Amino acid sequence: MTTAHLPGHPHIDYRGDALTIEEVPLSGLAREHGSPLFVYSKASMLSALAAYQRGFVGRQARICYAMKANSSLAILQVFAQAGCGFDIVSAGELERVLAAGGQAETIIFSGVGKTRAEMRQALHAGIGCFNVESEAELDVLNEVALSLGLRAPVSIRVNPNVDPKTHPYISTGLKGNKFGIAHERTLLTYQRAAALKGLKVVGIDCHIGSQITEETPYLDAMDRVLDLVQAIEAAGIALHHIDFGGGLGIDYNGETPPAADGLWAKLLAKLDARGYGQRQLMIEPGRSLVGNAGVCITEVLYLKPGEQKNFCIVDAAMNDLPRPAMYQAFHQIVPVNKRSGSTEVWEVVGPVCESGDWLGHERALNVQTGDQLAVLSAGAYCMSMASNYNSRGRAAELLVDGAKVHVIRQRESLADQIHNERLVG
Ligand code: LLP
Repeated sequence: MTTAHLPGHPHIDYRGDALTIEEVPLSGLAREHGSPLFVYSKASMLSALAAYQRGFVGRQARICYAMKANSSLAILQVFAQAGCGFDIVSAGELERVLAAGGQAETIIFSGVGKTRAEMRQALHAGIGCFNVESEAELDVLNEVALSLGLRAPVSIRVNPNVDPKTHPYISTGLKGNKFGIAHERTLLTYQRAAALKGLKVVGIDCHIGSQITEETPYLDAMDRVLDLVQAIEAAGIALHHIDFGGGLGIDYNGETPPAADGLWAKLLAKLDARGYGQRQLMIEPGRSLVGNAGVCITEVLYLKPGEQKNFCIVDAAMNDLPRPAMYQAFHQIVPVNKRSGSTEVWEVVGPVCESGDWLGHERALNVQTGDQLAVLSAGAYCMSMASNYNSRGRAAELLVDGAKVHVIRQRESLADQIHNERLVG
């Protein structure tokens, strides 16, 4: 059984018995805007970003928000206005950045399966860099760029074969993963890229995984990347930037990941020691910028106590919050308004017709039908992974800024869901 722990956060906390985000108590928001409902704190995102910015004072660094974590337009706008670039993985993400006011030249394009059409679109837009993930992709990008009379800026994503010690689905820098180019082949691949007329080598890139809570994998990966930088430059190929990926974890349930500024003090010391401290640096954080800035409010529909288990059936489900079903991930679930009295142990589940539709196992809660619960750490990889399974409309989203509440996404209607569908004949 798990007892509640509120991830350390200055902007989402109880005031008395009422869970509050910045200056706004959460209970009124779901009454006004319906449930389930995602609510984000702008101050929380900016303070997470500030930790990285502090870490890079005096350096040439670009923080490219990995928008797959949460690609809602207003969230992108917050990061664009705060001076971030963006890490994208599709043409859809490219269009979202541009629609939110982001600048094309601050964009880096990652991903193992970029299509020719996506490459063309990104080249036309004038993005900053393609992070190329295979030799075959290098050839295709070269062809596409030549056909447009352009040169594609590239960086090669190296797979440093470092264990990030995280969930297997979100570790990406091991030999058995589909990502990047094996570090043994990196030099050869750079030599090949440098010889292609449609490409311009601008950097090197590496990303080892996600929800990393230890600093050792980062330090090890940095050593390997710098060995490669040295070898590549010794072969006469200049690297303008070093992109160190994202992956820093957050506190879901008492994890203690390194703080961004502390981690970067150590990484920068390594860079300095080897003479690369004044290079252009790039990073691609996603989860650590938005994860603990968001909550999902859900209403208790039914209580169903049983012989073996007590079920607390809520109106949010695996289509809204896919991480528990997909990765057995843990999210804190806490009352929006605390009740006095004793708790019971509940399985918190959603209405979707799947036994895998659970949000939390064995949670100690004092709840009644009609209560609101908050699923914490819901700012990253929740709305961006939400689906319409069971023909459920996606939730609404609010952005709180001090005492101001902005509706940044309307609840999805059935008309929205069936918009592109046609009956036969
Ligand atoms: N850069 C690249 C190339 C990536 O593949 C990723 C995440 C990031 C940056 C951002 O990583 P972050 O800082 O957010 O850890 N859906 C999973 C996470 C998948 C992460 C995929 N790549 C989850 O809910 O845990």
